[in-house]
Amino acid sequence: MPARILDGKLFAAAVQRRAADAAAAFAAHTGRAPCLAVVLVGDNPASRSYVTAKGRACTACGIEPRQLDLPADASKDAILAVVRGLNADGAVDGILVQLPLPEPAWEEEVIEAIDPAKDVDGFHPVNAGRLLLGLPALTPCTPVGIVHLLAAAGIPTAGVHAVVIGRSRIVGRPLSVLLSQRGVDATTTLCHTKTRDLAAFTREADIVVVAAGRPHTLRAGMIKEGATVIDVGVNRVPDQSRPKGYRLVGDADYDELLGTAGAITPVPGGVGPLTIAELMANTVEAARRRAGC
Ligand code: GUN
Repeated sequence: MPARILDGKLFAAAVQRRAADAAAAFAAHTGRAPCLAVVLVGDNPASRSYVTAKGRACTACGIEPRQLDLPADASKDAILAVVRGLNADGAVDGILVQLPLPEPAWEEEVIEAIDPAKDVDGFHPVNAGRLLLGLPALTPCTPVGIVHLLAAAGIPTAGVHAVVIGRSRIVGRPLSVLLSQRGVDATTTLCHTKTRDLAAFTREADIVVVAAGRPHTLRAGMIKEGATVIDVGVNRVPDQSRPKGYRLVGDADYDELLGTAGAITPVPGGVGPLTIAELMANTVEAARRRAGC
């Protein structure tokens, strides 16, 4: 039987509707809309398109979007000054610095400069540490979206073996923690570039999440019959038959896995929309906590 296609747009729409309702209730209570500030450094086309999509989602949810564009050659001090200005601005509830920065070596310092109460990405060490300890925290959007998607789709997680491929701070690491948290209760294996015999792990998994940033990471023969495949990859591959000259593919060989998987997310239209919807939810949550409502 062909796999069930997990339509991320559908699940994201429900999350976004709830965020919009919560934003409206916040505005009625405080007299102002929640506000998300997004900082974009340089002009990476993929980053720009994500930032544009985040701004549109804010508007759709009744969240005030603010976009701050800095040139690719902005100094580290200039970026830190923008972040500190947003920390001090009482009207800003959420701060997101789009990654990667043109100078990736600065990312740690820039993330640590964000007020943890406004860190809607959940990347600050305070939020990452609280997540690890199972304490209330702003939680990274893609991992939390994946956990919500599995729940909404009725895919059991308790006691199952989940294999996560990729150990990034954005997806792999926090997701491995979330999946093993009380209430989600998966047994989790985190695989990465140095894992020996990746297929030996993925073939044992009930759920495989592939967030490696590399096409063809998960191929035919690497999963067991009926497994759930969550594909986080968004890779641009040249394709002159497309108007933009490229097409988007995930990290999994979707067509090859359709016949074996029990359920699978497409790319695009799978995990991507969930990330943005959860960002809206985190922004309203940050606003409510800051306002004490
Ligand atoms: N780059 C790719 N995904 C993300 C994300 O979720 N947050 C930020 N800040 N940058 C990203």
